[in-house]
Amino acid sequence: MSSKTIGVACRNVIKEFGDGEAKIRVLHGINIEVPTSELSLLVGPSGCGKTTLISIIAGLLNPTSGDVVLFNTPQSQLPGRKLVQFRAKNVGFVFQQYNLLPALTATENVAIPLLIQGVPRPQALEQARHVLNYVELGSRANQLPSQLSGGQQQRVAIARALVHQPRLLVCDEPTAALDAKSGQTVMELIREVAVQAGRVVIVVTHDHRVFDYGDRIIEMSDGRVVNVTSKN
Ligand SMILES: Nc1ncnc2c1ncn2[C@@H]1O[C@H](COP(=O)(O)OP(=O)(O)O)[C@@H](O)[C@H]1O
Ligand SMILES: [Mg+2]
Repeated sequence: MSSKTIGVACRNVIKEFGDGEAKIRVLHGINIEVPTSELSLLVGPSGCGKTTLISIIAGLLNPTSGDVVLFNTPQSQLPGRKLVQFRAKNVGFVFQQYNLLPALTATENVAIPLLIQGVPRPQALEQARHVLNYVELGSRANQLPSQLSGGQQQRVAIARALVHQPRLLVCDEPTAALDAKSGQTVMELIREVAVQAGRVVIVVTHDHRVFDYGDRIIEMSDGRVVNVTSKN
């Protein structure tokens, strides 16, 4: 077996919601290792815990116990402020419903993560235009989200998630709101990003049309990983 660089690992990740009587365990001790430079899909029926797990991996949620290791850095060992900085630098997130700000142009939307990090506006907009060219929306740079199709809005959202060049990109059902053709374009783009050196891309999906794009399929059921298959 060829040796692979592990970019992301979950170590016995448990997640519970609620307190006392109302407490429910949603993740029952997840252990996975995700290599760099390939596309990993996280699949399973609705309610099995995909969004919860990917949110914990991305740092939008904390685990109840267990740890997430991102690029050899155990997240549990980073103090609060460092943790926020680490994630802002290293993680990009794409949602099913794009989550673009309606009053901002495509370029301005893409520039947001840089502006938050304190990059001067002209430089942030310049970098945003560069990434919009990469997702083949250079000609739409000054348009508002409402002037773009669903597939184009999702590509703007991907550009926004990539503008600070994060090593980890996570996408939660990125094609769920798209027609077949736009879904294909979006997955081809995500695949191109995923195979870049050192990068980890994890896509949550229950869309069977997407399965073919994955190098690795991590299957969940009822809060557990039940199967991992790899093409390589
Ligand atoms: N904030 C929350 N509070 C309570 N239960 C939650 C919360 N978020 C998710 N859940 C529950 O956790 C389970 C897994 O949800 P989720 O991770 O969204 O699944 P999936 O993305 O696979 O559809 C579901 O039963 C859901 O109702
Ligand atoms: Mg979900």
